[in-house]
Amino acid sequence: MLRGKPEEVAPDPGNLVNSLRDFGYTLPTALADLLDNSLTANAFHIHVIVETEGSNTHIAVIDNGQGMDQNTLVEAMRMGTCGPQFLRQNNDLGRFGLGMKTASLSLGQCLTVISKQEDSDTIARCWDIPYIQNVHRWELLQDLTPVAEQYYEQIKKKTSGTAVIIEKIDRVSFMQLPEVQRNRYASISLELIRKHLAMVFHRFIQEGVKLQLGETLVPPWDPFLCNKSTRLVCERLHFMDNSIGVFPFVLPHHSHLTEKEHEDAGGLHGWNDHQGFYIYRNKRLIVPGSWLNLGFKKEEHFKLARIQVDIPNTMDAEWHLNVMKSHVSVPAYLRDDLLRIGRAARKEAGEVYRFRGERAAPTDAPAERYIWKRTDNQKSVRYRIDITHPVIQSLLHTGCIHETLLRHAIDLIERTVPIATMLQESAKAIEGGVQAEQQLEIEQLVEMFSFTEQFYVRLGKTHKEAREMVLMAEPFCRFQKQLLMRLQLGVSEGKKKEDG
Ligand SMILES: Nc1ncnc2c1ncn2[C@@H]1O[C@H](COP(=O)(O)OP(=O)(O)OP(=O)(O)O)[C@@H](O)[C@H]1O
Ligand SMILES: [Mg+2]
Repeated sequence: MLRGKPEEVAPDPGNLVNSLRDFGYTLPTALADLLDNSLTANAFHIHVIVETEGSNTHIAVIDNGQGMDQNTLVEAMRMGTCGPQFLRQNNDLGRFGLGMKTASLSLGQCLTVISKQEDSDTIARCWDIPYIQNVHRWELLQDLTPVAEQYYEQIKKKTSGTAVIIEKIDRVSFMQLPEVQRNRYASISLELIRKHLAMVFHRFIQEGVKLQLGETLVPPWDPFLCNKSTRLVCERLHFMDNSIGVFPFVLPHHSHLTEKEHEDAGGLHGWNDHQGFYIYRNKRLIVPGSWLNLGFKKEEHFKLARIQVDIPNTMDAEWHLNVMKSHVSVPAYLRDDLLRIGRAARKEAGEVYRFRGERAAPTDAPAERYIWKRTDNQKSVRYRIDITHPVIQSLLHTGCIHETLLRHAIDLIERTVPIATMLQESAKAIEGGVQAEQQLEIEQLVEMFSFTEQFYVRLGKTHKEAREMVLMAEPFCRFQKQLLMRLQLGVSEGKKKEDG
């Protein structure tokens, strides 16, 4: 039934533009959204500037990508250009046609974009919120602020590239402080930005993209410690024409990492928080560790499980990707597969966490010998001392009349490990034991090492063979450098004495 003509009710530009500022970006996530655009434009050098000093406070992202011509730039400034229905290239990191505007304006009230394509003129356009509010129209400005003027000159000199400049910053809390306090918070804030970008774009950086924050390059943060972790079986899940790669990793036990490696691998949010699935959309990290509401909790015991999941940009609707590219939900048809893969990874990770034994050995590393051995006879699991371990072997075969007693003593120790009491301890206290191991006296290690090495030489091995073999055994495998240095020193000191 016809009840009159349709009425056009256009949004009020001033009101809408203010609402679009509140999608929930933070400074790091807003910058990541701008970097998405630079990477989609094939930039391989992206410079992020956060100018907090003086009266010219501003934020800028400058890239050497392919740039835009005038029509493309004007269209790019439109709120909601090329929305989700738009078919994109498979390396495109965008989806909503909003990011450049919503991310920038979430920080400040003035957004200028300057761009240049190869063999073309440099062009610029600007959204200024006070101006929009004043004229009540979506009118783009072509005038340049003094700050934007400097970037215009910079882009003009490039073969191609784009600069996104944000001014009138009113939503970055530390930039609202008086200058003295501002500087104190600026370094903390820059560190958070660095860590966030290192995490979100680590695969691009690893492939050679230079990401510069201020004066320094951002190093990649590899969540999987690829050359130290155990890789579990990878899988490809298929849905319609889409293929999803799943690559589970079990990271090494704390005791297999240096303090620095351990701290670095804890990343921005810490070990516990960074467990679970890592969702990448075209190599860009969307979710940095989550069990994706599959029913698993983040628990200390499973913190070594990190699973890379690669999704293409053709499945955004199914994954419910949000505008900030920070959230997804698992499509129903993938739940069972991800549950199964998550469960298996958690099991392996739990075992490495509880028992820092064989399973902690990285796939490509040479085999190491561990003091404790795990035996599983279907009904029960038992941890036993491996009497073929070089140190134990050398002690058992000293020719001493108490050899049988020594075997009995080992058996006794195995059977009386106070497991129940240990399980009551907090994880921290148990890890304290590992740290204590890392602080083993080097003199004590050298003595034990030399004793064991000599045993194998007496058995007929060459010095080289004996040394290589013992160096691979626990705990010596974790102190190889220090031991070799110390043993080398021992030889030269001995030589000096002889010479003297
Ligand atoms: N640095 C850049 N270099 C070249 N083109 C750019 C750059 N930044 C933005 N653009 C152009 O502007 C358009 C709009 O960018 P915008 O970030 O607003 O949306 P989008 O990237 O298409 O989608 P999303 O909202 O998901 O980010 C892009 O599609 C691209 O064509
Ligand atoms: Mg974008």
